[in-house]
Amino acid sequence: MEADLIIRDATLPDGRGGCDIVIADGLVQAVGPSIPAAAREEIDAQGRLVSPPFVDCHFHMDATLSLGLPRLNQSGTLLEGIALWGELKPLLTHEAVIGRALAYCDLAVARGIGAIRSHVDVCDDRLLGVEALLEVKERVAPYLELQLVAFPQDGLYRGATARANLLRALDLGVEVVGGIPHFERTMEDGRRSVVDLCEIAAERGLLVDLHCDETDDPHSRHIETLAAETARLGLGGRVTGSHLTSMHSMDNYYVSKLLPLIAEAGVAAIANPLINIVIQGRHDTYPKRRGLTRIAELQAAGVPVAFGHDCVMDPWYSLGSGDMLEVAHMAVHAAQLTSREAMRAAFAAVTSVPAGILGLDGYGLEPGCHADLVLLDAEDPIEAIRLKATRLVVVRRGRIVAETPAAVSRLHLPDRPPSVSARRSAPESSAH
Ligand code: FE2
Repeated sequence: MEADLIIRDATLPDGRGGCDIVIADGLVQAVGPSIPAAAREEIDAQGRLVSPPFVDCHFHMDATLSLGLPRLNQSGTLLEGIALWGELKPLLTHEAVIGRALAYCDLAVARGIGAIRSHVDVCDDRLLGVEALLEVKERVAPYLELQLVAFPQDGLYRGATARANLLRALDLGVEVVGGIPHFERTMEDGRRSVVDLCEIAAERGLLVDLHCDETDDPHSRHIETLAAETARLGLGGRVTGSHLTSMHSMDNYYVSKLLPLIAEAGVAAIANPLINIVIQGRHDTYPKRRGLTRIAELQAAGVPVAFGHDCVMDPWYSLGSGDMLEVAHMAVHAAQLTSREAMRAAFAAVTSVPAGILGLDGYGLEPGCHADLVLLDAEDPIEAIRLKATRLVVVRRGRIVAETPAAVSRLHLPDRPPSVSARRSAPESSAH
């Protein structure tokens, strides 16, 4: 049988080198060295890294690319971002939200992202964002999986209609229950919201992903309730705590008790390194806290830890380009994840770990998986993070959906090579 596509001489994220990947009918058919098969199209990876797609497990697609509307965030804080988003919300139109979301999805695909979990604000009684993103989800489905979280941005109990709106959004087909317990008016309201949201998810058989303790306040301990409710309701494996930044500032004894609770309950953690490093610590003078959760300690306790992008050019973050390697790069620096093992785990935190959190079906490069992959201009996951490597080819269901040329600079220097690349083993820079 003639295959549709063969990638020759690929290095896989687990370190296996010299692999051919045979693709037909949108699926990986075979993976291994020197496979004697023919295909309509062949790509020679020349030993470069081929990975399953990046997965962004925490994003806000209803707000993306809205930077400057209606004004910029002057203080850089989470609270001003929420207030600014509140000013923008009544001005949003269905068409504008769809236009910006589709533009972001184009960029995400070019950057090798295959799936995005996006929170969508349900505090607007029109549910404009929900309806727009449900339409976007359908339109991008052939090339990008979009999973939506019903997110009461202004608090589940602070407004009269937020809870009813959240249920309406779930009725419309939003598949994950969101929340923001640290933004409720009192700790008790925050605790009640966690219980309420977990019960809604249990009743409806849904996943849970709460913005949880996104603050520098060490007494913000809603993750404890989230883990306990997960265990009580048997939701293990379906619940995620996003941000968990208060854990950075918590008492060490308390954390030593909290970590096994999270692990045993089966709760996953999502850090958002770019946003956490920019937004947290804003009330500090010096020393300024980094505001990232305890990534290495959570991993050591057996908690799945993934990294999300969270924001790109919106009321909370004016930078970003849909690059999950930039996200991993920031995590490596801000959380000092610099051992070889920790950097490989950082790559997994933007690929296989979030794929598990989203419950993606057929993710991976084994036979039978969807033929979704990215050829990176890097020799391995560590070089990919170091260089935020170019996504040379992005394949979705066996079809090339994006290509980007390698970053090579032409030099005009006397007695020096004609070109240079930052790659360690790039032909242009490896001559001795
Ligand atoms: Fe978020």
